[in-house]
Amino acid sequence: MCGIVGYIGDREAQNILMKSLSRLEYRGYDSAGLAIIKGKKMRLAKKKGKLSVLVADLKANPLEGSTGIGHTRWSTHGVPSDTNAHPHLDCKGKIAVAHNGIIENYLELKEKLQKEGHKFISETDTEVIPHLIEKFYSGDIAEAVRRAVKVLRGSYAIAVIHRDEPLKLVGARCDSPLIVGIGCGENFLASDVPAVLDHTKEVIYLENHELVVLTKEHITIKDFEGRRIERKPSKINWDISQAEKGGYKHFMLKEIYEQAHIINNILDERCKKGSISFHELEISDSELEKIKRIAIVACGTAYHAGLTGKYMLEEYAKVPCWVDVSSEFRYRDPLVDKETLMIVVSQSGETADTLAALREAKRHGAKVLAICNVLGSSIARESDGVIYTHAGPEIAVASTKAYTAQLAIFYLLTLYLAKLRKTAAPAKLGALLKELKRIPALMGELLEEYRPEYNLLAAYAEGFKKYYHEKHNKTFFLYLARNINYPNALEGALKLKEIAYISAEGYPAGEMKHGPIALIDENPWVVCIAVKSRTYDKMVSNIQEIKARSGIVIAIATEGDKEILHHNINYLVEIPKAEELFSPLLVAIPLQLLAYYVARAFGYDIDQPRNLAKSVTVE
Ligand code: G6P
Repeated sequence: MCGIVGYIGDREAQNILMKSLSRLEYRGYDSAGLAIIKGKKMRLAKKKGKLSVLVADLKANPLEGSTGIGHTRWSTHGVPSDTNAHPHLDCKGKIAVAHNGIIENYLELKEKLQKEGHKFISETDTEVIPHLIEKFYSGDIAEAVRRAVKVLRGSYAIAVIHRDEPLKLVGARCDSPLIVGIGCGENFLASDVPAVLDHTKEVIYLENHELVVLTKEHITIKDFEGRRIERKPSKINWDISQAEKGGYKHFMLKEIYEQAHIINNILDERCKKGSISFHELEISDSELEKIKRIAIVACGTAYHAGLTGKYMLEEYAKVPCWVDVSSEFRYRDPLVDKETLMIVVSQSGETADTLAALREAKRHGAKVLAICNVLGSSIARESDGVIYTHAGPEIAVASTKAYTAQLAIFYLLTLYLAKLRKTAAPAKLGALLKELKRIPALMGELLEEYRPEYNLLAAYAEGFKKYYHEKHNKTFFLYLARNINYPNALEGALKLKEIAYISAEGYPAGEMKHGPIALIDENPWVVCIAVKSRTYDKMVSNIQEIKARSGIVIAIATEGDKEILHHNINYLVEIPKAEELFSPLLVAIPLQLLAYYVARAFGYDIDQPRNLAKSVTVE
């Protein structure tokens, strides 16, 4: 949530900061702003709305100067407005701060500062930061920031500049990400790597409770006690082109179409000569052998990947497994201990609730394994072991490729644990691995079948839109499935809610008779995941029950299934034949595409849906 950037060097900062902000817009997009110093003057531009509104404003009133900070906002405290947009200033307008996170003790601090005479103009929690820095300032901005962060409670990454010290840019972090981009005669600050990739591939990941002072030539890192820290830079091995649309209309569509390739790479990288390896995992085989139970904790789409993981882990690795959403886990008294393997799943590796759950599990003595996409993220660093999904940057807010990459890691982990714990015959495991390796090619076929220029699902989506208007907006979606595809029903519904703003619910089909069936008349469109499986017949019965009550059925079925055609379904989506265990990787694709095309039919902003953010670094 919220993206912050900073630049110090010899070039004009405005365009560099704006380009960097455009790479972080996925983190928030309800307002944006810049503060830039030139000579002894600091100027500010802040606008409610997307970055494009600020671009237009800057065209009319450009900001000059070579030291500056910027911010793209996802509101927490205070409505989106020009005034609440960052950067925020102190009383004299000398200090500017861009902030990502939440200051939990801001009311208490604000009251105190007001009593001391500080004047506040916004409704944000952030505004206490420049005033605190002002209070502590006596000629050294880095020292004033250090003293200020010591009294802040909550999560923050901040970028700070002072009009009287134009050759310095200061950053600090606690529980929100912050990186330094190392340039040549210039340096950068940002919430995430894509923001600096146009200029450098060398970055430093700041750790919690660290402060950094950038000049155009130097980078000095200290902890909050003022002790110097040496940190080696990391080399980024992916390209900015991976964070661009590459000819697709939306990032989401591009990311959907990348999936076959990504899963193929994951399997290639992890399976060599018939055996699976997780080279970066720092949890030993003997530790994994000893675990008695697995707790999977995650949010949103990653939670659905975790739910799917439970089905496979229990069936093949024979470990009892439960799955929780992070925000629930962290506030109950969970039964995890040193015999528990906690698996946290997170694309961004920064989700605040998941990070808190991880810490809670560690406090109880559990080993924590993270399945993460973003290298060096907080969750990856704080876990005992990490398996990276290597899905490349995911920019669209609605997660697609990270989801299937998480599923692929769960498959490999399941087979790995089953072999280690001897819970399945080696021949069976070998056959399953062989079948898994066939899946990327099948995903490729499926994506080719539904290629963007000729997509049946786009036609279904247009049909839905027409029906929606005919029924005076009363229609909605239900997603039903059984067994290992049940989490896909939740995920399909989530995708539709996220980007098409249509009411949608995912349900285990067997539960339909306990409630959702009351909703069935001619209004709902019911997506029935009815691929060939051990519960196929039961799914078909559910389809009949829906048809008997005039529901509209979209069936996702296995290619060549003639029987499904006898059930009067309204729309058919076929997926290639595959082992039931691996079918979620295939079923996910039409679900993602359906949501995408419905959102597109309604003309919504697919990559940046309202009220959401990609990386949820607040509770
Ligand atoms: C947000 C995103 C979702 C994501 C969820 C968990 O809600 O919009 O796409 O699934 O956070 O994020 P994580 O980075 O932990 O996977």
